[in-house]
Amino acid sequence: MRRTLVAGNWKMNASRAQTETLLSGIRDAGDLPCDVAVFPPYPYLSQAVEAAGETVSVGAQNCADQTSGAYTGEVACDMLSDVGASMVIIGHSERRTLYGETDDVVLRKTRLAIDCGLTAVVCVGETLEQRKSGNAEAVVKTQLSLLLSELSDTDWQSVVIAYEPVWAIGTGETATPEQAQAVHAHIRALLAARNESLAASTRLLYGGSVKAANAAELFSQQDIDGGLVGGASLDVAEFLGICRA
Ligand code: G3P
Repeated sequence: MRRTLVAGNWKMNASRAQTETLLSGIRDAGDLPCDVAVFPPYPYLSQAVEAAGETVSVGAQNCADQTSGAYTGEVACDMLSDVGASMVIIGHSERRTLYGETDDVVLRKTRLAIDCGLTAVVCVGETLEQRKSGNAEAVVKTQLSLLLSELSDTDWQSVVIAYEPVWAIGTGETATPEQAQAVHAHIRALLAARNESLAASTRLLYGGSVKAANAAELFSQQDIDGGLVGGASLDVAEFLGICRA
């Protein structure tokens, strides 16, 4: 049975005060019916780990594709583990489009993250043009192909997939539950072709304008195991509303 995971990707938004407000709000909410994770910007990672306690997982939004060394400005996976992060987002569409991250880079980062004991939340998803041309599932298959061919079954135990249609990110244009479920089922089938138990155990999150109002219908879909939430994760009441969906 895959337990629902609701993960908040704060993107480049946070302050010490906001980090405290968000984490204390989640902590004070008591028991929630899902696993919860937050992904603050690097400068607030340690503070979030301290504030999260045992109830919330804390992750980073990115990592270097090299181990520690002469890479000015980069942050290595072992540093993230060292400060208490347990997860890392890899291959977010904003990294792919704004910073040129390729499927090869995503595989390298995923391997490094797993080697450092982190769970890799690997993002895939198509652009509006790709969807309109009927290539959504083909694009996602391509984005997953290296991971499916190069990661071992053991590696996959440390991987979560987040399907984030680019056209739904930050737009308020949420994919319909049927659209999201169709791609999630496609991803699940790709995993099953590799290994049935892999397909059964790997959590598939949906991301792209998830709100408290639409979360329940999305999460009720057979192959949607939770959400990767952007804007709504910066409002504790809205985020808790998604967790309670
Ligand atoms: O990683 C989650 C993010 O891309 C979704 O953003 O604001 O559409 O929930 P948002």
